[in-house]
Parts: sequence; C-alpha cells; structure tokens
Amino acid sequence: MSAQGHIVRHRRWLSVVLLAIALLIPTATAFAGPPSPLTPASTEATIIRDLYAIVFWIAVGVFVIVEGVLVYSVIRFRRQHPEEVPVQLHGSTPVEVAWTIAPAIIVAVLMLLTLRSMRTLYQIPSGTINVEVIGHQWWWEFRYPDLGITTANELHIPVGEMVRLRIESVDVIHSFWVPELGGKTDAIPGHTNTTAIQAMKAGRYHGQCAEFCGAQHAQMRIEVVASPPAEFQQWVENQKVAAAAPSDEAAQRGQQAFMSSACIGCHTIAGTPAQGKIGPNLTHFASRRTFAGASFETTPQNLAAWLRDPQALKPGTLMPKVGLSEEQINDIVAYLLSLK
Ligand code: CUA
Repeated sequence: MSAQGHIVRHRRWLSVVLLAIALLIPTATAFAGPPSPLTPASTEATIIRDLYAIVFWIAVGVFVIVEGVLVYSVIRFRRQHPEEVPVQLHGSTPVEVAWTIAPAIIVAVLMLLTLRSMRTLYQIPSGTINVEVIGHQWWWEFRYPDLGITTANELHIPVGEMVRLRIESVDVIHSFWVPELGGKTDAIPGHTNTTAIQAMKAGRYHGQCAEFCGAQHAQMRIEVVASPPAEFQQWVENQKVAAAAPSDEAAQRGQQAFMSSACIGCHTIAGTPAQGKIGPNLTHFASRRTFAGASFETTPQNLAAWLRDPQALKPGTLMPKVGLSEEQINDIVAYLLSLK
C-alpha cells in the first residue's frame, strides 16, 4: 500500500476513535456552536444532564457486558470440526431467571431516578419573577406581568434567581426549549404549562421551538439573556418606559410612515397610536439583537430587506409585504433603530 493510502486509513481510524470518545463523554461539548443539553447552565438543566449521564453509563455497561459475552462466545465456541454437531441445549432456569431479573432491576432503578429528578424539577417555588411565554407562528412573546413589560424573542433573566415561566400558545402547539437552561415544555393553545429556570452563569443562551408548527418552525428561535441582577434591573427600567420620540429627521419621517401604514394594525409601540397585538411589541425593538423569531440580526441591511419583502426572507411569515417605497423603508429603518 502507498504511503498516502496509509495516511487516509489512519485518518479514518482517528476520526472513528474521536467520534467514539465524543459519544462516550456525556459532559463533553461535542460540537462548538449549537447549544447542547450536555453543557448545562442552570440548576434544572444540570438535573436533566445528571440523569442522562446515569442512564448513559448504565447503557454503556449493558452494551459492554452483552457484546463482551457475544464476542467471547463467537471466538471461544467457534466450530472446530465441520462435521461435528455441537451439544444441543434447551432452556436453563438459572439463566432465564437471571436475564429477566437483571433488566427488571435496571428499569426499576431508572424509574426511581427519573421520578426523583421529576419531583425536583416540578417543585417550583413561587418565583420572584414571573414570565408569560406565548408561542406564535413563528416567534415568541415574553410578558412580565408584574413589571409591565412585553417583549419578543429575547428573554431577559437575572442570574441566580428562580424565574417562573407560564407557557402557552395563541395558535398551534409549539415547544419552548433552551437546551442549556432546561427541558422542553410544550406551548399549547388554551392550556398553560409551568416550568422554571434558574441560570447559574451570565450569558446568552440559544433556544429553538421543538415542536413542528408549520413552514417556519425552524426559524422560531429564542435568545435568553442571563445577566447579573443589577444589569437585569437596568434592562427592566429601560423596558418599562414608553418609546422615546425620535430626534433625527429620517427617524421622524419613519415614525410618520409607520403610523400611517398597515404596521400599526399588528404592532404596538408604547406611547404612540400603534397598539396592534398580533405581531411583536416594537417599543424597544432596537434593544434586541435579533428580530423575526430571532432569525436575523438587527442590522439596517437586514431590516430593510425584511420591510421590502418579508416573504422573501421568511416564506409564510404572517407579516405581509406592505409595499413601501425605498425612501419609506430607509426612514422606517431609522425609526425602528432609534427604539432603544
Ligand atoms: Cu413553533 Cu415549531
């Protein structure tokens, strides 16, 4: 074999070994980038990860024992003489009893561990912060009833504090899932599910609707911003106030264009005539890093493209093409970006 062939073969083996290692270590970040339930950042996600690790290692043990016995038998008892018929055995009470009882014990242990974890997860103390999480096709609404705040796609929480989430939906079934912060919780129309998260460290955590809910299910994302309590309080204070009147001319023209177009039928901007309830609340739109179900970064270019033709960026979105002129688009972009 050529030297190159050897290298290719070695590389293949190396990738197989690396993959095996990645699969064998439940605590490892197998892939940088997508959020993983194996790198928990909250008390709840840690409970789930720990349960998973126990199940995983029990499964590894079972696999090694069963495959070990199998491989041993294949080698040890392989046919030596082609004409010889091996001794025929039928049934063995000790063996039958053993392989019935052993799995029953394993399953019972797993059930007890699962029930224990579930009990901890569902004991939600009355949280200092209540958030109503409402699924829409295809974005998330977050309301803080005690603070008088309504926002979208970006959920802000303080580190170290228990946050109670009351999850529901206005249209179809969605599922709220931020892997590093907790398990999946269904958002069901006409029914409220309650869960809680307590972030252990500050950061931005990505989530995703985890129940197929239509054309743009994949672009129904979530961003959770966990910040130190003082920073969170600052955010709260900013979100509570009505939108500031725009100071520069383009933004002022943008506000006029916005208020005299179809936009106000769906969107609310507190302190203005725009009081629509169907779409995301835009009062502090520019304070959010992303828009349209956390699908696009809040940049002038993305925003202009979105206003020009939302269907081109997110086919099926309930936001219609309003038919704005390029001038109006630029002005409305300036206005929206002034809503800090
Ligand atoms: Cu909402 Cu999938």
